[in-house]
Amino acid sequence: MANLAVVGAQWGDEGKGKVVDLLADRFGVVARYQGGPNAGHTVTIDGVRHALHHIPSGAFRPGVKIVVGNGTVLDLPKMLSEIDGLEAAGIDLSDRLFVSDRAHVILPTMAQLDALSEASTDVRIGTTQKGIGPTYEAKAGRVGIRIADLADREELARKIRRLVEGPIGKRIRDSGKDPGDAEAITARAHADGQRLAPYVADTALLLNRWIDAGESVLFEGAQGTLLDLDHGCYPYVTSSTTIAGGLCAGLGVSPRLVGGVLGVMKAYATRVGEGPMPTELADGPGGIGQTIRDRGREYGTTTGRPRRCGWFDAVAARYAQTLNRFDGVCVTLLDVLDPFPEIRIGTGYLLDGRPIDAFPATAAAAARVEPSWETVPGWRTDTTGARRWEDLPAAARAYLDRLGALIGAEVAVVGVGPDRTQSIVRPGSWLARAFDLPLPASPGDLR
Ligand code: IMP
Repeated sequence: MANLAVVGAQWGDEGKGKVVDLLADRFGVVARYQGGPNAGHTVTIDGVRHALHHIPSGAFRPGVKIVVGNGTVLDLPKMLSEIDGLEAAGIDLSDRLFVSDRAHVILPTMAQLDALSEASTDVRIGTTQKGIGPTYEAKAGRVGIRIADLADREELARKIRRLVEGPIGKRIRDSGKDPGDAEAITARAHADGQRLAPYVADTALLLNRWIDAGESVLFEGAQGTLLDLDHGCYPYVTSSTTIAGGLCAGLGVSPRLVGGVLGVMKAYATRVGEGPMPTELADGPGGIGQTIRDRGREYGTTTGRPRRCGWFDAVAARYAQTLNRFDGVCVTLLDVLDPFPEIRIGTGYLLDGRPIDAFPATAAAAARVEPSWETVPGWRTDTTGARRWEDLPAAARAYLDRLGALIGAEVAVVGVGPDRTQSIVRPGSWLARAFDLPLPASPGDLR
C-alpha cells in the first residue's frame, strides 16, 4: 500500500486527527513531521477525554507504530504527561512510540520568550505561546537543544547556559523577567530526557527500513497550508513547513516514497490568531459566524480561543491544491452547515477592485482583498445520520461537487459528525480504490 500524506488545506484545525484515526489501521506507521504542542486534538475513549498535542492520532489504533519526527519541537513535561495519560487509559505505547533523536526541545525559556514577544511587538501574531517560534528560531540559529543532547548532562548544561545566560536569556532579562536558572532547567530537562529515553530513536533510519521491508506509512501534518512558514500568510504563520513537502525534511523520507496526498478541509473556513482571513464572517452575536462557531464547537483545543469563522474560501483551497497536489480531499464538518437556507462560497478575490487569481504575498494585500461570492442552495436537513454517500441530500452532494470543481481535486471523504462512524468515503473515489474503503466503522468520539 502506498505511503500517504494527510495535510491541512486551510488554517489548521481541519479535523486531520479524525481522518488519520480513520485510516490508521490501513498503515503500519503513522508519522508526524512538524510542529509541536501548538497542535491539538481530543479523543474520548470510554468516556475519558484525551487531549493530545504531541502524539499523533494513530496512537488510538493498537499495533500501529507512531513516529514523532525530527522536524517537530517537543515540550517534554507535556509530552510525558500525554504518554502517562495514554498508558493509564490502557493504550500501550512501549514498543510502538518512536521519538526522533533529532527533534528539538522546547525549554521553558522559549515559551517565556514566545509570550514576551507577543506582548511587546507591534505585529502580534496571536501565537499559541507554547514556545514554538523561539524553538525553531534557535534551531535555525544552530543553538537549539535536540533530544539526543539530553543524555550528556554536562554538555546539556553548557548548551542550556549558553541559551539562558546568552542573547536569548538577555531578551527576557531586558524586559524585566527572569529567564530561570540554567542549572534547574538542565536538571529538569535531563530527568525528562531519561524518562523519554526508551522511546528515542533515529527515526529517519527506522522509517526507511520499515518502508524497505514493505510497511506503509501515513504522514500526519499539523496546522495547515495557510500557516506554512514559506507559503502561508506571512508573518501570520507558524514556524514550520506544514505543506506536504515538509514531510521529506521533517522525517528524512525521500519524495520518491510519497505515494499520495490527502487534503483535509472544513466545509467552511476557520482561523485562530491574528492575520487576514478573506471570507471571515465577523457578524457578531446571533450572526452566521457565531452559528458556525457554536455548531462546529470552534474553540481551540490548545488555547480554548474562539476560532474566527467564515464561508469556504476556494481561492485559499486552490492555493493549497497548487502547493500540495492533493489526490483527493476530505471535507469535514459538513453537518455544521445543515441549517442554512443558502451557503456562500468565496470563489475569487478582488484586490483594490481588480480580480486576482492567487493568494497575495503580503499580509497587507491579503487584508485588503474582497471575496467574490457564489451562493448555492442549502439542504436544511440533518446530515449527521448519513452513513453512505447516497444518504446525503442532493444539495449537499452538489455543494461538495462544487467545492471539488473549484479546488481541482475530488472530494473523497466527507465528515458529518465527530464519531468514527460519521465519515463517509465516496464510493469509487481515488481513496476508496487505493485503500479498499469504506472501512468497517467502530464508535468513538473523535472531535
Ligand atoms: P504558533 O504556531 O504558536 O507560533 O502560532 C502561530 C500561528 O499559528 C497563530 O496564528 C496560531 O493561532 C496558529 N496555529 C498554530 N498551531 C495551530 C493549530 O494547530 N491550529 C490552528 N492554528 C494554529
